[in-house]
Amino acid sequence: MDFFRSKADRAPAVDLKRLPRHIAIIMDGNGRWAKKRGMPRTAGHAAGAENFRTIATYCKEIGLEYLTVYAFSTENWKRPPDEVSAIMGLLKKYLLEAIGQMERDRVKMEFFGDLSPLTPELRQLCERTREISRHYEGCQVNICLNYGGRDELLRGAMNYAKDCLEGKADPNHLTQEQFGRYLFSRGVPDPDLVIRPSGELRLSNFLLWQSAYSEFYFTDVLWPDFSKVELHKAIAAYQNRDRRFGGV
Ligand code: FPP
Repeated sequence: MDFFRSKADRAPAVDLKRLPRHIAIIMDGNGRWAKKRGMPRTAGHAAGAENFRTIATYCKEIGLEYLTVYAFSTENWKRPPDEVSAIMGLLKKYLLEAIGQMERDRVKMEFFGDLSPLTPELRQLCERTREISRHYEGCQVNICLNYGGRDELLRGAMNYAKDCLEGKADPNHLTQEQFGRYLFSRGVPDPDLVIRPSGELRLSNFLLWQSAYSEFYFTDVLWPDFSKVELHKAIAAYQNRDRRFGGV
């Protein structure tokens, strides 16, 4: 795997046999990236979407099992309508391309979030992508779309309560593993590494349940500039951590 371009951006070596199984990324900093260049925020999202393609392809190449990205939160509807529709347009463009290349790429695609407020066209594209790639094995990419950690937990709690009322679940007995099956992330192992570029040091309602024991990596680099070298830095930092999961 040779992508060293110059001494300046030389990536730290990572042990490909000890990769995290699951990396989750908050793709933050698109707006600031655009502002720095005197461009509209939507141009930052376009650059962010392009970078997502690069990073997702690279993750597949190195053999990562799961990649989850935060594309649109339950709170992002508060943004100006033209910005919201630009992000939705980028998602549509990406999904159309992904469908065209699925046979070749064989990446399994999933969506975390309530897709019902999306346009019927976008919703159908998500469903088609999910359906076509359902049996693919190898890398799984989860796109968080109209996703919020608290929303996910409330939905899980309501569905569990319904199952209890219908006699399908026991209200006196619930394990963490059983509750996990009520979440969008059912069947997906918790993220080992959560990356947030752009200098913000918060979780912003991302994978609240799933990140209980995740390792975090923060960097000032803005998402459109978060290159393969930056990804290597994050993985190298992860590989130097001592994960104890509450033990000693
Ligand atoms: C956060 O940066 C980014 C978003 C809310 C949108 C992310 C969307 C994309 C990268 C494009 C579509 C995605 C795919 C998967 C094709 P920000 O706008 O909050 O940045 P700022 O904090 O600098 O303003």
